[in-house]
Amino acid sequence: MAVQEQRANNTLEKYIAEVRAAWGDGKDPQLPFKVAAMMEKLFASTSPDDPWMAELIRDGKPSRELYRDPDHGFIQMGHIHKQGHGNQPHDHGPCWVVYGSYKGVTEITKYKRTDDGSQSGIATLEKERLDRLFPGVVQPYLQGDIHSTNAVEGPGVVFRFLSYDLDKIERNRYNKEKGTITKLTPQ
Ligand SMILES: [Fe+2]
Repeated sequence: MAVQEQRANNTLEKYIAEVRAAWGDGKDPQLPFKVAAMMEKLFASTSPDDPWMAELIRDGKPSRELYRDPDHGFIQMGHIHKQGHGNQPHDHGPCWVVYGSYKGVTEITKYKRTDDGSQSGIATLEKERLDRLFPGVVQPYLQGDIHSTNAVEGPGVVFRFLSYDLDKIERNRYNKEKGTITKLTPQ
């Protein structure tokens, strides 16, 4: 059942209502950090036995859209990641993202580009930081931040808040070993 059709009668709906109330025009540079704090509160106030969370865990789907905002376009995703699930370095183009671990441990590596971006298709990366997302830990990644994720202790229950639908924007995927960059165009 779509969340927006219900009244705010569980912790997920309360969290969504808080994000909506804080959104404004969506351009506040503090917004990713505000959403991160709200997600931390959501995790702290949600029991694995709460029906909506229990269903998400029981379902075990690698990716589920939990909420899509009809006015602002932000999306809350819920993921159940098996141990070892990971992805290649990527950015989210003009969007920002908040990753949170409810269960399991997910490592997120953040990279910086070491080339000047002048050669098309070429990008060299250097590891900048490793974030270990233990249960209850939430971390925003801002516009253009290059990162990759790895579920080191699973199954991981991972929440991913997207400031906008990533399928509708241009973003990049990187191959660190080959030193290449691939543009992903809107679908
Ligand atoms: Fe990402």
